[in-house]
Amino acid sequence: MSKKTVLTGITTTGTPHIGNYLGAIKPAIEASEDARYNSFFFLADYHALIKCHDPARIARSSQEIAATWLALGLDTDKATFYRQTDIPEITELTWLLTCMTSKGLMNRSHAYKASVDANREAGKEDLDDGVTMGLFSYPILMAADILMFNADIIPVGKDQVQHIEMTRDIAGRFNHTYESLFALPVAQVDESSPLIPGLDGRKMSKSYDNTIPLFCSADELRRLINQIVTDTRGPGEPKDPDNSTLFQLYSRFATGHDIALMRQKYQEGIGWGEAKRELFEHLDSQLSGPRARYHELMNDLGAVEEVLQKGAYKAREKSAPFMEKIRIAAGIRPLTYVPVQPETDTQVKKEKSAEELLRVEEGRRRAILMQLKSLFERVESSDNKAEAALQVLAEKTAEVEGLKKKQKQKAQNELDVLKTELAQYVN
Ligand code: TRP
Repeated sequence: MSKKTVLTGITTTGTPHIGNYLGAIKPAIEASEDARYNSFFFLADYHALIKCHDPARIARSSQEIAATWLALGLDTDKATFYRQTDIPEITELTWLLTCMTSKGLMNRSHAYKASVDANREAGKEDLDDGVTMGLFSYPILMAADILMFNADIIPVGKDQVQHIEMTRDIAGRFNHTYESLFALPVAQVDESSPLIPGLDGRKMSKSYDNTIPLFCSADELRRLINQIVTDTRGPGEPKDPDNSTLFQLYSRFATGHDIALMRQKYQEGIGWGEAKRELFEHLDSQLSGPRARYHELMNDLGAVEEVLQKGAYKAREKSAPFMEKIRIAAGIRPLTYVPVQPETDTQVKKEKSAEELLRVEEGRRRAILMQLKSLFERVESSDNKAEAALQVLAEKTAEVEGLKKKQKQKAQNELDVLKTELAQYVN
């Protein structure tokens, strides 16, 4: 079986913290060691421009994120590690996909709707106040990131799942309109791991200003751990490990035996000061190696840049020829281009695995369903659904009969989908 492609992007607006490390970076690097997958990781620096207009911060964040992943041992011979802006095909694809995306789909994007809601709550007259076209059409850039490499699995946070759904819709529309070139990706959300708490016990997040930078100095790490909120129980009083931020952080870094020992210490009434010291020592012992490596890399950014350039080269070996195919499918071709004779269906089918065919078929169906939405609505909202369904089918049948060849085949496919979907109402 061919390898699945896993792809994820990291927006370059901040300094990696312990929450990013445990929730995203560590699992991604581990997965990239698994021979069943091809991994693509990239610095999403065009995404950074959507929410941050501070050039120094974006540039700094790109350095820090690249150095962090390398310091943690990402093997760039196995994984493809690159910077989004080094792959011009991604922006090119963004435009082609923009022309395949209905505005209504973008109107439903959570990120955009959140801005509109905030404006409404603030009593603003212009609900689009402060909304750039970048923010509005951001899911299309993300779709291009994913579709450019025909990625199958996209590890993301819950807030990003909608974007993967939108990517599927956009890909389906392209496949249906032109040629089935894109695989439909699925989001992979880690629901099993408990939340990683920050200094105040809420989810560790830049927006709560409660983070512990992954590679801050040992002194800073000690100082931040000392700030972690605890209750007022004194030394000797038993403590509930499951309600302690200190314990939760400890257990995300430690292994089974150490976790059990620490749990016992909490139950036996370890003092908070002592618990903080233990947490500091444990984290520091694990982080000091990669931290030293990180500082070496931050002092040798030329070497990091070189790694990214190698990654871009590897990525473009895929994206450049694929983009050529995509352009040609859409009619953007050299004037002298002569289309090759399309293969017959049976030839194509022989070359594709059953799984691939299923996926293509599913995407095609989805796209057709989307395009026929208004017809289904017409039937659903009708008082006499059977009659409405029959009428819709009659109209489509008439349309098929009036068309020629390719157009006819397309309408016939639509008719087939209508027939299955509307079967519940007729006969
Ligand atoms: N938007 C993602 C985030 O904010 C980052 C991202 C950009 C991404 N492009 C991507 C993630 C493609 C997965 C795939 O987290």
